[in-house]
Amino acid sequence: MNIIAISGSLRHHSLNSKLVEQAISMKPDDLTITPCEIREIPLFNGDLEEDGDPEVVLNLKRALKESDGLLIVTPEYHESMPGVIKNVLDWAGSDANENVLRNLPVGVIGASPTRFGTAYAQKQVKQALIAAGSEVFQKPEVYVAKANEKFDDAGNLTDERTQKALKRYLQSFSSWISEKI
Ligand code: FNR
Repeated sequence: MNIIAISGSLRHHSLNSKLVEQAISMKPDDLTITPCEIREIPLFNGDLEEDGDPEVVLNLKRALKESDGLLIVTPEYHESMPGVIKNVLDWAGSDANENVLRNLPVGVIGASPTRFGTAYAQKQVKQALIAAGSEVFQKPEVYVAKANEKFDDAGNLTDERTQKALKRYLQSFSSWISEKI
């Protein structure tokens, strides 16, 4: 199985991008996780869409269409999902050209320095995915709270409990996807 992973942070030292890398290093053998770069995706604009999806959007949609699932790793800003994630979901899930989120199996995890670890943002991302027609993986959940204390300088996840939770999540997520394809 091949899935795409999107980090919702464009920051160089992003905790969420580190979490993507960690997921890649801990994935089950039957799963391939490919990170997808979203920094060049323009702000959603129905006029651009009417002229045909921009090349970067087409590339994103092609990657999603060819994948068996999607893992969204979301930061949280103001108890909400980041704009860059919402933007990707609006492009990918728009019906005007092709909604590539429909029926796509999607998992959502996230990391933040607070004690809730992106609980609000994850709920919002899941709500938007349901509206777009995705199949949303619900349990287990991974909220990496106090994430600034859980990675070393090289970006390795050092917290043992979080390592176990992430591993268990990836195993459950991949067997859930395998039942769907
Ligand atoms: C935050 N942060 C934050 N964290 C959180 O858990 N809940 C929140 O509501 C907010 N709100 C918020 C607003 C704004 C404007 C900023 C810049 C930040 C903190 C945020 O989780 C933290 O900066 C993370 O490190 C961002 O994720 P990356 O870039 O490390 O992946």
